[in-house]
Amino acid sequence: MSAVSRQVPSTIATERLVLRKFTPDDVEDRYAYQSLPEVARYLYRPPLTRQACAESIAARAGGTDWKADGDVLLLAVCRADGPGVIGEVVLTLSSAAARQTEVGWIVNPRHSGRGYATEAARAAVSLAFDRLQAHRIFARLDVLNTGSVRVCERLGMRREAHLIDNDLDGDRWGSEYVYAMLDHEFKAATALTRS
Ligand SMILES: CC(C)(COP(=O)(O)OP(=O)(O)OC[C@H]1O[C@@H](n2cnc3c(N)ncnc32)[C@H](O)[C@@H]1OP(=O)(O)O)[C@@H](O)C(=O)NCCC(=O)NCCS
Repeated sequence: MSAVSRQVPSTIATERLVLRKFTPDDVEDRYAYQSLPEVARYLYRPPLTRQACAESIAARAGGTDWKADGDVLLLAVCRADGPGVIGEVVLTLSSAAARQTEVGWIVNPRHSGRGYATEAARAAVSLAFDRLQAHRIFARLDVLNTGSVRVCERLGMRREAHLIDNDLDGDRWGSEYVYAMLDHEFKAATALTRS
């Protein structure tokens, strides 16, 4: 049994959502949002083809040991009250030795503006701190990606950096924010919410 299959429950339920591993049956739902230029706009890559959606689901079907730099945990986000996949959250172990984890999120625009991305991202952050022993979680986002900036701020992440023209998005220089949170900050915020 892999480390992650021991540590990550097969489904994570939040108030309105269920997070789980993707299956091959989810390719069309995933392609529905991953193929949209508006979704890929700030991701520094083109929209995904149907084949790329299927291949990345297949590649991650076995989960991850969450041991080595670059290990990825990709979770489908589903509404608890409806069928299908409405988005995804992804955790990437950027440094196993320093317990650094990157988090990312996507929600199908048909389901945006309802707080689902924040709810799913909060569950992913909680998973990383509580079960995957993350010390620091960070997100990198284009400064123009205002929806994502608001997700980071709702999660209580701090803006740590503003990188200027640090990447090239086609012919546009991209500038990025780095947002982050430490394990003790998350625990303190969680304790405050519960008290
Ligand atoms: C980034 C992205 C996930 C943000 O989506 P979003 O819909 O704005 O975020 P949420 O799902 O958390 O919804 C938040 C909004 O729902 C509103 N909302 C409505 N009902 C709500 C409810 N019941 N509970 C919580 N929020 C609710 C909030 O007020 C908020 O609106 P605001 O941002 O205008 O203040 C989305 O734009 C996306 O997928 N973009 C493409 C991929 C991408 O760039 N990913 C990030 C890479 S780092």
